[in-house]
Amino acid sequence: MPKDSAQDNTTYRTWRLDDPRQTLVLASRRDRLPEVVYWGAVLPADEDLSAIAAAHVIDVTGGMLDENPDLSISPEATRTFPGQPGLILRSHDGTPLLPKFCFESAKDEAGTLELRFTDAGNGLHLIASYATDPHTRVITTAAVLESDTPVHLHWLAAPVLPAPQFSDEMIDVSGRWCGEFQLNRTAWSPGMRYRENRTGRTGHEHFPGLIVPCRGATNTQGEAYAFHYGWSGGHKMIAEELPDGRRQIQFGHASRMEWHPSTRFATAPLYITYSSDGLNGCAVAFQRHLRDRILTPANDAPRPVHYNCWEAVYFDHKLPVLKDIATRAADLGAERFVLDDGWFGRRDDDTTSLSDWEVDPRKYPDGLGPLIEHVRGLGMGFGIWFEPEMINPDSDIHRAHPDWALGSEDQILGRQQKALNMALPEVRDFIYDRMAAILSEHAIDYIKWDHNRVLPMPDANQTRGSYALIDRLRAAFPHVEIESCASGGGRIDFGILKRTQRVWLSDSNDALERLKMQRNAALFLPMTVTGSHVGPRVCHTSGRTLDISFRAWVAAQRHMGFEMDPRELTEHEATVLREVTRWWKANRDWLLTADILGLDSTDPAIIAEQHMADDKQRFVVFAGKATTSAQIAPRPLRLTRLDPEAHYEVTLANKDAVPALSRGPLILKDGPVVLSGTYLMSHGVTLPWSFPESMWVLEGKRL
Ligand code: DGJ
Repeated sequence: MPKDSAQDNTTYRTWRLDDPRQTLVLASRRDRLPEVVYWGAVLPADEDLSAIAAAHVIDVTGGMLDENPDLSISPEATRTFPGQPGLILRSHDGTPLLPKFCFESAKDEAGTLELRFTDAGNGLHLIASYATDPHTRVITTAAVLESDTPVHLHWLAAPVLPAPQFSDEMIDVSGRWCGEFQLNRTAWSPGMRYRENRTGRTGHEHFPGLIVPCRGATNTQGEAYAFHYGWSGGHKMIAEELPDGRRQIQFGHASRMEWHPSTRFATAPLYITYSSDGLNGCAVAFQRHLRDRILTPANDAPRPVHYNCWEAVYFDHKLPVLKDIATRAADLGAERFVLDDGWFGRRDDDTTSLSDWEVDPRKYPDGLGPLIEHVRGLGMGFGIWFEPEMINPDSDIHRAHPDWALGSEDQILGRQQKALNMALPEVRDFIYDRMAAILSEHAIDYIKWDHNRVLPMPDANQTRGSYALIDRLRAAFPHVEIESCASGGGRIDFGILKRTQRVWLSDSNDALERLKMQRNAALFLPMTVTGSHVGPRVCHTSGRTLDISFRAWVAAQRHMGFEMDPRELTEHEATVLREVTRWWKANRDWLLTADILGLDSTDPAIIAEQHMADDKQRFVVFAGKATTSAQIAPRPLRLTRLDPEAHYEVTLANKDAVPALSRGPLILKDGPVVLSGTYLMSHGVTLPWSFPESMWVLEGKRL
């Protein structure tokens, strides 16, 4: 059938996108918006796409319309679509517009596809784009709406996708301060799961991600579909089951975020992937895509071990104390010292001075120079904290420019502060000048960029303003890395990570909570961006006391750092910390490009992951024991993605930590053991008994 004679019900225009793991097929009939008629395992090259499209059609019976409305890439109310439409807008005078798009053109070249549809009656154009990536196996898709006259946008979904029928539930991500990346499983049922984040930032509560596992999928096996919306201003997600059983997934900016009529609106990129090897397939795709395609590193040096002084001194900055702490941190192995909140204005607590970005002469009479020189003299880099988008009512800048604050005068404050109106060029210029002055006058190679409150109302211009400011600073100071922090993990997404190099996953330095959080966050985030610090012996946010070895190994699972006051460390604690840090440095080269794979532990007390080197020649397993096990002896832990035919030398890296209560003759306690990939993946490795809140570290080398 000729591809372009798509005028009757049985003739289709079709397009296919392929990477080594997945095929996505779009089909349009009668010039309408296309539907995704297939998304899954790679189809044969000679598959008849029109046949696929025709086979996709579902039946009609009593009580239904005479034809099922298309579940298109932007479902249209004008086609009697029984669910949520993909586009909601009004004309300039407020009249609702009901678009009805017709095919205009397609550009289909080398793994990218751009489809253009027009609604001539309303003067609207919808452009959907798709880009495949053979290395990462992530498809990037986005939608643009153009209008001949300015219109008000209520909702624009990125190109809509069907969700699989062979799935019983969906997994999405919520959280809170000190409790980021909690996974929720919700059963599919008629109607929708609607998540809308109206806080104006990505938020702890609403990481913009979704995984739809097919029945029986685990970390290591089965099929799963995953989605991430790369935007920092708050998103909306719709996962809807229609009355006829079909399912759709929509992602876009939170609705009504565009305050002004315009002739052009765009969604952020929606990153999607299909996996045939469990949730790990999705996780690895996102980890690689973020690491290899999205991040813009400031240099190619290995990730340095951080020391951050926040939990050591808070606002109490005293030069001799900070110098002493820096000296001790360097001795423990730190390679970058980050001066946190408290160095500017009259910032003795969190009630004052945000936006007064000038060094506090009471604390630093000779400026930051002496501290920076000391830190540099120890061989460390220097980082500094800013919270650029914020202002305290008690600040010189607020007194001078009260109109620069976003929101009404009587708004509820958050941490005693307001957000600045980032849409105003004069605000962006002011922040830029103040930050640029600090960066130009000092040898600073790192910014911890904080954002400690939600916005008074969602506004896409705010996010665009923040992005513009970061982009301008990065262009002027390309050697300066930025960490995205928002009371911990309140601004983590691929949009902010296009312009930053690290995230502060959580304000919780509690290793037990971190163990779980890090595991879940790795569904989307690679090691290289995920900051993890060894906290104080008694955790400041949970009150829990944890052993140094556990704290150190949990931090070593990600981009390692320290945040306790090093003066509290006993000799034993300092020794353990030095050793683990040495181990991390010796391994970081391959770890930072490794895939983080979740393991299917048969014991719910064990939270385990395997970091698999890119060249598959080595791995390390971190098996954290979160609580006491129900059964008395450890169950074997199955590894994953090894070569079944190969043999691996497996070594318990921290066998010195075997407690006296582990009395059995376990082979791993005596030294390395050589086992086949088949054995390690089907039987699993038997680890020694251990206390709860401890970690086994198992190294493997392919022979
Ligand atoms: C919140 C951050 O998450 C902390 O790490 C610290 O930087 C404080 N803000 C400083 O005010």
